[in-house]
Parts: sequence; structure tokens; C-alpha cells
Amino acid sequence: MTMLQNPEEFSQLLELYKQAKPKKVLEIGVKFGGTLRQWIDNSEPGTTIVAVDDCRQVDYRLTNQSYAELKEINLIFIKGDSHSESVINLVNHHGPMILYSLMAIILMKV
Ligand SMILES: C[S@@+](CC[C@H](N)C(=O)[O-])C[C@H]1O[C@@H](n2cnc3c(N)ncnc32)[C@H](O)[C@@H]1O
Repeated sequence: MTMLQNPEEFSQLLELYKQAKPKKVLEIGVKFGGTLRQWIDNSEPGTTIVAVDDCRQVDYRLTNQSYAELKEINLIFIKGDSHSESVINLVNHHGPMILYSLMAIILMKV
């Protein structure tokens, strides 16, 4: 699955992710789902991942949704601009955010 990140930078972020073991995760900017697949692969069962993107691609959604179900990850897609009030309200519905990290991923450890 295509990931649009600098591999070295991303590996550092992934290490932080593995250490934090967040139970609630927000990714803003999913595109083809490359980084999303990494969050799914490195999350424990029961984790909720909220994925926000303003583009119209849907194929990655179908692929990742069934994959996440197999891994017992609760994957929620929200289509829209992360700055919009409606998207913010939907995201807030899934839990508070307490840690903000780089590259448009927010880890929520609650
Ligand atoms: C570089 S791609 C993300 C790549 C993905 N994280 C990966 O590496 O596999 C950026 C995506 O973020 C989306 N995007 C940018 N700003 C956004 C915003 N404010 N709200 C929602 N989506 C946004 C773009 O439409 C695009 O699909």
C-alpha cells in the first residue's frame, strides 16, 4: 500500500506510536491509506482509529475497513476538511485528544 512519507521520519514516528500504544488515534490525511495501514498493523485489538480526509477516494476505505475488522480495530472514516466544524464535532464524538504529533497524526491516549 502506497505511503507518502519520508521513510526515515516515518520510522521514528512509528516507534513513538508503538511505545505510546494509543487506544484512540486520529489521522488527518489518509490519501491512499499507506500510513493508516501502519497504524492498523501496530495497534492492539480494541483500538479506535478515526481517519479524516477531504478527498473522494473510496477504494482505500473498503480495503482498510475489512482489514481493520480482521484485526479487531474500530476504524471510522470521516470525509471532510479537518478545519470544518462538522468534522471537528464528529471527531470529538470519539474522544478527547491529549497528544498532538507531527505529520498530521494525533494520538489520543485515554
Ligand atoms: C500526503 S497525503 C497523506 C498520505 C498518507 N498519510 C500516507 O502517507 O499514506 C495528504 C492527504 O491529506 C488530505 N488533507 C490535507 N489537508 C486536509 C485537511 N485539512 N482535512 C482533511 N484532509 C486533508 C489530502 O486531501 C490528502 O489526501
